[in-house]
Amino acid sequence: MQTLMRDDTFQRIRTIVHEASGISLGDGKRTLVIARLGKRMRELEMGDYDTYLERLEGDSSGYEQERLIDAVSTNVTHFFREPSHFDDVSHILQDLAAQGRSRFRLWSAACSSGEELYSLAMTAHTALAGHDVDLKILGTDICNDVLARASKGVYPRDHVKGIPPEHRFTYLDRVDGQRDVMRITQELRDLVVLRRTNITRTPLPLQGPLDIVLCRNVMIYFGRSTRERLTREMARLIAPGGYLFVGHAESLHGITDKFNLIRPSVYQRNSR
Ligand SMILES: C[S@@+](CC[C@H](N)C(=O)[O-])C[C@H]1O[C@@H](n2cnc3c(N)ncnc32)[C@H](O)[C@@H]1O
Repeated sequence: MQTLMRDDTFQRIRTIVHEASGISLGDGKRTLVIARLGKRMRELEMGDYDTYLERLEGDSSGYEQERLIDAVSTNVTHFFREPSHFDDVSHILQDLAAQGRSRFRLWSAACSSGEELYSLAMTAHTALAGHDVDLKILGTDICNDVLARASKGVYPRDHVKGIPPEHRFTYLDRVDGQRDVMRITQELRDLVVLRRTNITRTPLPLQGPLDIVLCRNVMIYFGRSTRERLTREMARLIAPGGYLFVGHAESLHGITDKFNLIRPSVYQRNSR
C-alpha cells in the first residue's frame, strides 16, 4: 500500500468530498484521509491513490463517491450525548402537549448510527405518554454504513449503558441467542423514519413545519457559507417557536438572525 499521497491527488479528493458532502477537509487531514481510504482501497485491491482517483472520477453512478464519504465521515456518537438537551426536549414536549398540541415532528439531522435518534425517540415517547399524539421522528445522515446500523437498532450492551435505566428497561429488548447486544423495541422503531440525506444539498426534500431539530456535531465539519445556507434551510423548515439544538461546542453566533439563543447550543426559531 502506497502511504504517500501527492498534493494534487489530495486536493482533488478533498474537492470531491466537499462537493459531495459539504465536509471541509483542512490541510492537516491528509493523514486521516490516507488512513480512512486504506480499507476501501484494500477492498478494491488498489495500491495507489491515482488509480483510486481514476475509479472515483470515472464512476458516474455515484457509488464510489458514496463509499468515499462513508470512509471520511466521522461518525462518533453515543446515547444521550449532551444529556441536558434531552431534558430540554422533554420539557418542551410536555409543555406543548399540556397546551393541547397533538402533532409533533422531530428530526435528528446527522443521526449517525442512531444513538441520537433513539435517544430523542425515547425522550419524546416518555414525555408524551398519556397524550393521544401523532409523533414522527426523522433520522438522516449522509453515510450509508451508519444508517444501516441505525435501521437495525441493535447495539452492544456496552453502548446501551449510557441510556438512563428507566428507558433501558422500557425501550430495549434482548436479541435471541445474542447475549452481548440489545435491540431497540419495535414500538420505538416504528416512530422513526430513516433516510440518506445530504443536509448541505439545499433545498432539502423535507416537509416542515418541524418542532424540534437536533443538528449536533456536524456543522463543525462545514465551512462558514455551508453553515449559513444550512441554517437558512433549518429556518425554513422549523416552525416559528420551534427549536434547533446544535452541539455544545458549536454556535450560530453571527450566522443567522432567524433564531434566538435560549442558552448555549439551544436556539428557538423567531418570526423573522
Ligand atoms: C460526529 S457525528 C455526530 C452524530 C450525532 N449528531 C451526535 O451528535 O452524536 C457526525 C455525523 O454527521 C454526518 N454527516 C456529515 N456530513 C453530512 C451531510 N452533509 N449530511 C448529512 N450528514 C452528514 C456524518 O456521517 C456523521 O454520522
